Amino acid sequence: MAEHVFGGIKIRHLYKIFGPNGAAHIEAVKKGLSKTEVNEKHGHVLGLRIEIPSGRIQVIMGLSGSGKSTLIRHINRLIDPTAGEVLVDGVDVVKMPQAELQEFRRHQTAMVFQKFALLPHRTVLGNTIFGLEIQGVPRQKGVDTAMRWLERVGLKGFEGKYPNQLSGGMQQRVGLARALANDAPVLLMDEAYSALDPLIRTDMQSVLLTLQKEIRKTIAIWSRRLRRR
Ligand SMILES: Nc1ncnc2c1ncn2[C@@H]1O[C@H](COP(=O)(O)OP(=O)(O)OP(=O)(O)O)[C@@H](O)[C@H]1O
Ligand SMILES: [Mg+2]
Repeated sequence: MAEHVFGGIKIRHLYKIFGPNGAAHIEAVKKGLSKTEVNEKHGHVLGLRIEIPSGRIQVIMGLSGSGKSTLIRHINRLIDPTAGEVLVDGVDVVKMPQAELQEFRRHQTAMVFQKFALLPHRTVLGNTIFGLEIQGVPRQKGVDTAMRWLERVGLKGFEGKYPNQLSGGMQQRVGLARALANDAPVLLMDEAYSALDPLIRTDMQSVLLTLQKEIRKTIAIWSRRLRRR
């Protein structure tokens, strides 16, 4: 019997139209209205059908501007879709009441942002422990957890440094340590590898692959291109 791992994600009929009244244009978009061909009536349906199996790494690729960051933000509802549903283990994130959504964000998902999103006035440790502080984890336990993950991503000894004292690759590993410290079953990575040196990209990838053997999270990585191993 297959072991149930939390975190299978399904996205169905999801749309996001940016602007003051996206909903007003949803029917037209469903009928095939495209970015450029605003008045076209009979184009194909713009829909997304993506399934991310639980406990696995799924890489989703797309060119710059294709909607990777937009899509990832729908999964923990940092932005509301104009229409559609996002099912995480069968529960529609789009319909979650605020309190439940907050719980879901804090405990079920962790995110690595495209631009790292580190807090500049906090140390590496301070950044890594941030989510745990929000969760109300006692200080010492938080420090222990954060230090353990910093070590796992190869940043032991750098815990007292500030983000601007680190290279891009190191900053990204802080983002990864911060996400892993949360211990959420779903890890969403809006990758910024394209901003990094190819060697560092390969390095990050192997860190993640090694860790995944142990952590077995649902990992969705949005990427501009596939990395060579
Ligand atoms: N807040 C917003 N308001 C208006 N348009 C937006 C907003 N956010 C994104 N867009 C548009 O939505 C489209 C998708 O953008 P998105 O940032 O998701 O692309 P991406 O695939 O992540 O690109 P990149 O690889 O460059 O990070 C783009 O056309 C972008 O201009
Ligand atoms: Mg992006």
